[in-house]
Amino acid sequence: MPGLTIGDTIPNLDVETTNGKYNLHKFCSDSWTILFSHPGDFTPVCTTELGKMAQYSKEFYQRGVKLLGMSCNDIKSHNEWIKDIEAYTSGAKVDYPIIADPERELIKQLNMVDPDEKDSNGNLPSRALHIVGPDLKIKLSFLYPATTGRNMDEVLRVVESLQKASKFKVATPANWKQGEPVVIQPGVTNEQAKEMFPQGFETKDLPSKKEYLRFTKVN
Ligand code: BEZ
Repeated sequence: MPGLTIGDTIPNLDVETTNGKYNLHKFCSDSWTILFSHPGDFTPVCTTELGKMAQYSKEFYQRGVKLLGMSCNDIKSHNEWIKDIEAYTSGAKVDYPIIADPERELIKQLNMVDPDEKDSNGNLPSRALHIVGPDLKIKLSFLYPATTGRNMDEVLRVVESLQKASKFKVATPANWKQGEPVVIQPGVTNEQAKEMFPQGFETKDLPSKKEYLRFTKVN
């Protein structure tokens, strides 16, 4: 992904949202933030995605994660669209702010442009999603084309993985889900692991006899 990517600090932009004006650094500092863009208001996949985000919002808030949506239309259009989103997704309240970017300036700075999807005003935003850490750095990015809707279970799963790795010297294996064992990071020696993980760990006996696949449980 050219431009803004994992490890980069998000630009300090002033944005206008459905919940008021925000400064991006102030909004994102000291918590986790999911910044997610959408090709446009009143489009089918986006309507389902924003509804799903609203249904999952409590799950994110409970984990200390703020949500910040974005679509390249103005606030008036966003507010009209929210009525459709809430009507389509029963019980969902769009309680998170949606950034307006009618001039399509912010999507360029946030590396959220879809090179293939265009309308009469130029390039549309991609279905990009950045997970920003409390240090304002991008920890993970999804980049989907306009034609593929995201899976919010996967977004929640990766948030949990990122938060585990930020708390402990662990990583999460393939298809990991919350509550399952995690692996100890390669840089940790067995002696260090004994101190770091007093609950113990299990080392897999592999043909190489290199003791690098070590499972433990952390909360
Ligand atoms: C959609 O959100 O449904 C969409 C937007 C642009 C192209 C294709 C799908």
